[in-house]
Amino acid sequence: MSDLLWQKAGTRTDERVMRFLAGDDVRLDREFFLYDIAASEAHLEGLAHIGIVSEDERHELMVELENLAWDFRNGQFVLDEKYEDGHSAIEAHLTERLGDTGRRLHTGRSRNDQVLVATRLWLKAKLAVLHALCIDVAKIALDRAAASPLPLPGYTHLQRAVVSSTSMWFAGFAEAFIDNTQRARDTLAWIDANPLGTAAGYGVNLPLDREHTSEVLGFARLQVSPVYAQLSRGKFELAALDALGSALLDLRRLAWDLSLFTTAEYGFVALPAEYTTGSSIMPNKRNPDVVELMRATYASVAAARTEIEQLLSLPSGYQRDLQFSKGALVHGFARGLAALELLPDLLARMQWNETAMRAAIEPSMYSTDVAIEQAAEGVPFREAYRRAAAAADEAGQGRTPEASLAARVSPGAAADLRLAELNARLASLAA
Ligand code: ARG
Repeated sequence: MSDLLWQKAGTRTDERVMRFLAGDDVRLDREFFLYDIAASEAHLEGLAHIGIVSEDERHELMVELENLAWDFRNGQFVLDEKYEDGHSAIEAHLTERLGDTGRRLHTGRSRNDQVLVATRLWLKAKLAVLHALCIDVAKIALDRAAASPLPLPGYTHLQRAVVSSTSMWFAGFAEAFIDNTQRARDTLAWIDANPLGTAAGYGVNLPLDREHTSEVLGFARLQVSPVYAQLSRGKFELAALDALGSALLDLRRLAWDLSLFTTAEYGFVALPAEYTTGSSIMPNKRNPDVVELMRATYASVAAARTEIEQLLSLPSGYQRDLQFSKGALVHGFARGLAALELLPDLLARMQWNETAMRAAIEPSMYSTDVAIEQAAEGVPFREAYRRAAAAADEAGQGRTPEASLAARVSPGAAADLRLAELNARLASLAA
């Protein structure tokens, strides 16, 4: 292992203890390494501004930080167990190349603010991806909602209830993903605060140029209190996982619908062939595995959330417990975004089976229409309800799904989907 940043003269470390401390942390730091380097560059600029490093030193350090980023990107520099963590690797590299100059960069910073700033930058990028994916999903769903509607049974309690339509099904998920878009954007804005310069959590005796580091790293504001910068670790990861989880909850329900709709019993939907798999033993099978893993993904996000929440039972100040938030966060986002990435294409290409959907609409599903029509003519609703219930099947005879949908004029329903309103909201969130 490279020299430990914190090792003092005359002390010994134990291999097994070191392995325990590091765990999978240094490998996880690969996710954050380029952000750690970017923040190191910003910190270096800030040190130069206040005269802690000379112009020559600034230049030498900057070149080596850039080289390190370059080498890391193309695999020349491997971040592995040779180093305690990504932060140590940066200092080890600079020291190897520049000797004592390499040791100057850490002036006025701590690994505690390093990990905070790298995690916030990483999360900002992930939330931007989440935001874009939610927009894509909402767009496709709105497009498909705008196509000629086909009748689809509407269910409650998984029992046939009233006539619905493919457009209503798509419009529902469209609005859900518009909400998720807003959640991603708002969470990104909430996380967009710079902790760099808070050091170990109590500030330092240097006039660090924190405004400058905020600006070059693209943060919207400063995280002011060094104490709060530490207290917020875990909390902002939870907020990000909540934003992701919100989208995954909707995906879970959508996946549930599709896994039902693709059974022979329903037969409403055919998935694109690539989204199904076969069975190793049963030659007849076409299984909706992709949809099932999409449904399962919420569990990974919820597990990540729970792990971090459990870690947060801590007093003020940095505690090493917080290191474990990284694995949960990386895993949760990897699974969550991977599932969402497939969704726009799946929604664009899934096909409805009109014959099966029409066959599933039975006359009794018009009885709510019948009762409401009578009530509109002055019959007390409870009486109209009783009459419609007594004559459920006959009352619906001769009715068509088209007429039922055309009469559904309540705002947002089949005859008045308000897609323009939804499109406008999406456009404002996409801007
Ligand atoms: N790997 C550590 C973490 O994720 C980095 C910060 C270490 N700080 C410390 N004071 N030991 O929390």
